[in-house]
Amino acid sequence: MLKKFKTLNQFFHPESNQISMDFTPFVTTVGNNRLQVMLASDENIPDLLVLEKEVYSGQTPWSSFSFKTELRKRKNSLYLFVYEASTLVAFIGARFHPREAHITNIAVVPKYQGQHIGHMLLELMIERARQNNCECVSLEVRIDNDRAKRLYSELGFEATFVRKNYYQDTHTDAVNMVLWLKPHRIRKRKFTL
Ligand SMILES: CC(C)(COP(=O)(O)OP(=O)(O)OC[C@H]1O[C@@H](n2cnc3c(N)ncnc32)[C@H](O)[C@@H]1OP(=O)(O)O)[C@@H](O)C(=O)NCCC(=O)NCCS
Repeated sequence: MLKKFKTLNQFFHPESNQISMDFTPFVTTVGNNRLQVMLASDENIPDLLVLEKEVYSGQTPWSSFSFKTELRKRKNSLYLFVYEASTLVAFIGARFHPREAHITNIAVVPKYQGQHIGHMLLELMIERARQNNCECVSLEVRIDNDRAKRLYSELGFEATFVRKNYYQDTHTDAVNMVLWLKPHRIRKRKFTL
């Protein structure tokens, strides 16, 4: 998870981005759940805050203001919500650059975890990055988040480097992980998690 949005400006240049952020909502079945996958909008933010509290033990690492600001960046960001009936059960966000897509956040409510919803959402973003000819998909993950790291590794993400003290609230390091979609010349040093 990205710690805050402003750091993205170091990496992304929206004005040079020609990527389409259109998204057609769809219904899918994952395990026993009939899920609706749709584009996020301001109206869903109260649901998102409920989801955050469930996932992060009552905390909301991203505030309502942060989400609203991010959702306005329609040109190069894609935020998808997953509902089962009227319950928000998961969401994923990504920012797209002509060469790189960056997963900014992903969360699945505890009751629905382990049912491959996270996997499905990441594959959606990876496919979108492929369609848009991106060279790679990147993300940051807390160094002690073994479940998430395992999921990313299964999808082919490689740990590249550690951002020391990235999450300042808990003084936790983050690992930057990259999934290469194309052969690349400069490869950051890979290390084992
Ligand atoms: C990380 C997260 C998004 C993964 O989503 P998910 O839908 O639970 O993950 P998936 O079901 O697609 O699968 C991930 C793997 O971990 C396992 N797993 C995930 N959650 C599990 C759970 N609660 N119990 C047991 N196993 C679990 C799955 O078995 C799966 O392994 P497999 O492919 O060998 O079967 C989710 O656990 C989550 O929201 N965690 C809290 C927020 C967070 O850490 N976000 C990531 C920020 S970088």
